[in-house]
Amino acid sequence: MSGAWEERLRDRFGLDGFRPWQREAIAELLEGSGRVLAIAPTGGGKSLCYQFPATELDGTSVVVSPLIALMEDQVRALTERGIAATYLASNLDDDERRRRWRGVAEGAYALVYVAPERLAGAGMIDLLRRLRPPLVAIDEAHCISQWGHDFRPDYLRLGALLEAVAPPRVLACTATATPIVRDEILARLGLGPETRLVLRGFARPNLHLATEEIDGKAARKRVVTEVLGEALGAPSQPAGGAIVYAGTRKRTDELTADLRLRGWRTAGYHAGMDADARAATSHAFADGSVDVVVATNAFGMGIDRPDIRAVVHFSPPGSIEAYYQEVGRAGRDGKPALGLLLSGAADIALRRFLIESGGREAERPSQARIDQQWGLFRDLLRYVEAGSCRHDFILRYFGDEHELLGGCGHCDVCERLAAQGGEERAVSEQDAIVVRKALSGVARARRQVGFQKVAAILHGDRDASLARWGLDRASTFGLFRDRPLPWIQALMRRLISAGLVDITGDRYPIVFLTGAGARVMKGELPVRVLPPDPPRERARARGGQTRGADARPAPAGMDAGLFERLRARRLALAKERGVPAYVVCHDRVLMEIAAARPIDRAALARIPGMGPARLDAYGDDFLSVIAG
Ligand SMILES: Nc1ncnc2c1ncn2[C@@H]1O[C@H](COP(=O)(O)OP(=O)(O)OP(=O)(O)O)[C@@H](O)[C@H]1O
Ligand SMILES: [Mg+2]
Ligand SMILES: [Zn+2]
Repeated sequence: MSGAWEERLRDRFGLDGFRPWQREAIAELLEGSGRVLAIAPTGGGKSLCYQFPATELDGTSVVVSPLIALMEDQVRALTERGIAATYLASNLDDDERRRRWRGVAEGAYALVYVAPERLAGAGMIDLLRRLRPPLVAIDEAHCISQWGHDFRPDYLRLGALLEAVAPPRVLACTATATPIVRDEILARLGLGPETRLVLRGFARPNLHLATEEIDGKAARKRVVTEVLGEALGAPSQPAGGAIVYAGTRKRTDELTADLRLRGWRTAGYHAGMDADARAATSHAFADGSVDVVVATNAFGMGIDRPDIRAVVHFSPPGSIEAYYQEVGRAGRDGKPALGLLLSGAADIALRRFLIESGGREAERPSQARIDQQWGLFRDLLRYVEAGSCRHDFILRYFGDEHELLGGCGHCDVCERLAAQGGEERAVSEQDAIVVRKALSGVARARRQVGFQKVAAILHGDRDASLARWGLDRASTFGLFRDRPLPWIQALMRRLISAGLVDITGDRYPIVFLTGAGARVMKGELPVRVLPPDPPRERARARGGQTRGADARPAPAGMDAGLFERLRARRLALAKERGVPAYVVCHDRVLMEIAAARPIDRAALARIPGMGPARLDAYGDDFLSVIAG
């Protein structure tokens, strides 16, 4: 039955195929539990996840959508394709609305779009209940989140709507991926935690992600200039554009003037400027008459320049989501681009102040809101100090496990891992021992205690509760006696970020080893997490950094001919997809393949750097090259 979906997709929508995650979401709606939360970036294709099922199902499907312009657009496109659709919103006069509603009641439409404010009117929920829609879709579902950036009070009625209508299928869609918003959507819509989550499309492997901890303003300015030179070339003939997020209005003005002096065609953008000046900046950046925009986070909406080669943050934004959205404006053309985040100790205090004072809002925020915002910022700090691949870190944060790269090979952390040497783009044996010791510490605590206690055990700090569990006699007690406690805590945070250790969601959270953590501990998987630097070695981090270079010798037993054939195939794949070769994969990965000669997917999956996403995209190609 579902093979025919493709055919009808072509007939009705003129599309060649579903994106894999669209198919997953649609199958879950039509043939599975009927409850889906679909999260994909802007332009990912979420509308099809309700439009297609609506054309498959008997009856009229209901779509709640907040923007009249978007509804109008979709209804027009559907009507042109011969799919009966209409919308109900407050821009229509009463007669027109009644006329449309009669049509809906008579079953004339496959889809009816409803603006959320219509739900406030008396009887609307009742009418929808009598309509018995086979599917209710909530588009832009993050509008239900009171802490989100797009909160719409009318969305709060949707819980009651779903309860009254009790549709057999519910789909919620959004591009907002933070776990906290996700949970809020499910809770407020009354969808259970078992709702199928389909989340995809967040990987941006062409971005070279890096962070640097620098405190002084002058030093940060130097780095900004350096990076602009690296990404764009000379100010007189730049290869594309760049955005510098300056953090504050004052700093925006200052950096704009600075970069102009250095010869960059630069314009500023912040909410304190008048509307004309802001529009002038946007236009000049779009048409290429300005190469660098220095801005606060007010700059963003509607930037669709594809050739942005660098996004530099002079100071950290408030959350991983905000960061990823801002850095994600680089490299839309799929070619290499830099994303550099600068941070330092002073930023932490400043952020705390901003959160507590509530920014520009008049009242002091509630404690709950302060805690929430602070939590989001602490997640971002974890990103800054991550000891494992930055891409994988972000994908894991969003829950996009399908696209994990198993190490992107070109973020600053992956490069440091590569520079350390070792056969498997893994840490040195010495660091691997440190990581395995820490993992053993977690394992020996046997799901009895939390994060702080495990750190204390490893540090060898005795206390009554440890004695009660007998943990002060564990072989792991005091393993890191010679290290400062904060270093041990930083190490453990890295293990959590890297997905080797996890924490339960209870009131007294317990730490435990994940499946991957257990395998790394036993030596079945290589260690790809860097322990934190000892404090005094921090300073040399930048000097020692070489972007992209991997000077290690080829692995033992590598078949040089096969390596060249793999490279040729990689080049063809990269051209086909219009991406740089290293996005397909690095030389190092091809070398490892040429040494191990895996014969099936399972064996190929064990090659370092072949994450599930690469395996899916290129696995069969590489296997066919190996098979000859
Ligand atoms: N399977 C597909 N094949 C080709 N094009 C597709 C496919 N699915 C969707 N598209 C196209 O992708 C574009 C964006 O789709 P859509 O508007 O549904 O995105 P969205 O996820 O809702 O984004 P937003 O978050 O901005 O609302 C549309 O032009 C659509 O035709
Ligand atoms: Mg949409
Ligand atoms: Zn990486």
